[in-house]
Amino acid sequence: MNKPVTVLGIETSCDETGVALYASRDGLLAHALYSQVEVHAEYGGVVPELASRDHVRKTLPLLREVLGQAALGLGDIDAVAYTTGPGLIGALLVGASIGRSLAWGLKIPALEIHHMEGHLLAPLMEPDAPAFPFVALLVSGGHTLLVEVEGVGQYRLLGESLDDAVGEAFDKTAKMLGLPYPGGPELEALAASGNPDRFQFPRPMVNRPGLDFSFSGLKTFAVNTFKEHTGRDHVDGPAIRADIARAFQDAVVDTLGIKCRRALQQSGLKRLVISGGVSANQRIRQHLTDIAAAEQAQAYFPRPMFSTDNGAMIAFAGCLRLQAGERGVSSIAARARWSLESLTAPGI
Ligand code: KG4
Ligand code: ZN
Repeated sequence: MNKPVTVLGIETSCDETGVALYASRDGLLAHALYSQVEVHAEYGGVVPELASRDHVRKTLPLLREVLGQAALGLGDIDAVAYTTGPGLIGALLVGASIGRSLAWGLKIPALEIHHMEGHLLAPLMEPDAPAFPFVALLVSGGHTLLVEVEGVGQYRLLGESLDDAVGEAFDKTAKMLGLPYPGGPELEALAASGNPDRFQFPRPMVNRPGLDFSFSGLKTFAVNTFKEHTGRDHVDGPAIRADIARAFQDAVVDTLGIKCRRALQQSGLKRLVISGGVSANQRIRQHLTDIAAAEQAQAYFPRPMFSTDNGAMIAFAGCLRLQAGERGVSSIAARARWSLESLTAPGI
């Protein structure tokens, strides 16, 4: 039996500052999240320099907050885990510098966490956690990945987006429809009142074998549909936006479903994990739950709060790695790009 440990997690890869404490015995002790949405909203997207500065401002106050919530002191922490990539380099460096320095001062291990591994493992924090192995669909603002997962750090890439990530396609389409940043949840809300029969969007790459995706064509299709109809039909503005949002979302949901079904069939696995910001989408949740059931498989999601970026998933990934024998690093690193497949099982 491993000795119980408590791990501090720090997430600063993009526009959320997340800090959390996860204990191997008692689970999640505390988590705090600060979203920079308001800072970036007026620019319609994340401004990297502003993101870095805001992480500098918020990380230590959030650390104090989680220690207070858990009624713990710095001396109670056994390791510091922080996201070192992929993401915005300046933003990542803030979390890595603070995390590594804390670990140094406290003489405890510093664990570098891959942001997408954080997402991938997040559903394992839930009471109905899936056992290994499983197929994982990771859908965020920067990545769309289908992965076969044998264990922590044992990942085989089955497919990925050849152009835009799903979240990026949601955000760009939402922006075109005049919705505020970040557009994913806004587009989902608008689509709810859309007519599903008015437009038929393509299902990209479903007729080709393989498990790769392409979403930039859908965004273009949305732009063209919008231009074509608003040109001669100005009075229809609000309705057409909702109808386009609905057609776009239906096409994304259907495409993800087709590829997930294929991945389950090809791998023979009966567990499907869906995580990353876009997995907060209720229609995606419902459809992929149905797809899994039709394959006699089960779908697993993080709770919506931990679908999007957060510190809990980083603390949790760090806790699993520490317990499996990972020792940590001595230097400070940040990686804008970092392949998930290049990770190894902890302790190896
Ligand atoms: O994982 P995440 O928080 O950050 C990254 O790692 O990128 O994902 C953010 C992405 C954004 O593109 C956002 O619009 C999208 O997830 N998203 C959604 C929903 N909630 C967040 N997309 C569709 N429907 C949602 N409900
Ligand atoms: Zn993310």
